[in-house]
Amino acid sequence: MRIGILTGGGDCPGLNAVIRAVVRKGIFHYHDEVLGFMEGWRGLIEDKTMALDLDAVSGILPRGGTILRTSRTNPSKRPDGVQRCLATLAKHQIDALVAIGGDDTLSVAQKMHEAGANVVGVPKTIDNDLGGTDYTFGFDTACNIACEAIDRVHTTAEAHNRVMVVEVMGRDAGWIALYSGIAGGADVILIPERPFDVDKVAESIQQRHERGRYFSIVVVAEGAKFAEGAGAPVVQDMGKDEFGHAKLGGIANILAREIEKRTGFETRAVVLGHIQRGGSPSAFDRVLATRYGLGAIDMVHRGEFGCMAALRANKIVSIPLTEAISRNRTVDDEMIQIAAGLFEEIGAKEAATS
Ligand code: F6P
Repeated sequence: MRIGILTGGGDCPGLNAVIRAVVRKGIFHYHDEVLGFMEGWRGLIEDKTMALDLDAVSGILPRGGTILRTSRTNPSKRPDGVQRCLATLAKHQIDALVAIGGDDTLSVAQKMHEAGANVVGVPKTIDNDLGGTDYTFGFDTACNIACEAIDRVHTTAEAHNRVMVVEVMGRDAGWIALYSGIAGGADVILIPERPFDVDKVAESIQQRHERGRYFSIVVVAEGAKFAEGAGAPVVQDMGKDEFGHAKLGGIANILAREIEKRTGFETRAVVLGHIQRGGSPSAFDRVLATRYGLGAIDMVHRGEFGCMAALRANKIVSIPLTEAISRNRTVDDEMIQIAAGLFEEIGAKEAATS
């Protein structure tokens, strides 16, 4: 078969591992030919390609980013965008396309499938918020980077008697904040799923310091919301990408100001930004991404089109793309309750040690 492959949306550690797995199993086991489309859906609209043989994928396993590059191009926003993508597939006699991406890229994959293309999806996002799968690759690496950053700001917080506010990614879901916050021993974790009252945040920090602590660490997801903010996240500017997403970021700076105002404790903000998406994937993500790639090429050869490779109970299974894109997988109440066990209730009188 002739297989096409593309990577869309934000870059993510492990993308190259998926590409490598598809190419190696495709060539070694199925005698396929593989063609890469460059820069996400833009590669199909503008017919930008790269031949993917064994040499092309040699040495890419530990590399971050994607050798196919990526973009947030949305064919539905271009005149005849989907038709042009189909025409490019036909021109290159592509029998099946593997689309690696998050909900935006996979929503286009679903449209392409409905328009007659043979498409298989692979779930990618550091945010870990794609429906239907237990974990997306890239999440583990992002959490490791965020956890290391929290460990590092701990030393400054302790040395200076400060409150440090660390902002991590997470547009709609607080998985990175929750996992890195737990792993890094944060004192307050704020996620998009639960709008927060800044007075209560300040109170809990005050309460901790009354117990004899002299520093605190707050981890906040970029998409977290002030309860009094009418449900709106903090944005960098009013611009939107082709999928209608605003550019989030900056909540840590506002929050740090408000905490300092209310508690009188010196407070600093650190915004991790794209650092947590860059660089080499963790061993876990290399293995997970490789399993997704192997699963996807098997799905192609079983003819499971309009489907996505998903991780369920540590097995790679095939689920409909519609299931993956129909809802964001946000942090559930059960997980929030589990994490709550780590923190003192606001107003609790008894002294505790940490
Ligand atoms: O991929 C998802 C994400 O990591 C979001 O958490 C974040 O808001 C967004 O990407 C930022 O992407 P960009 O590279 O477009 O700034």
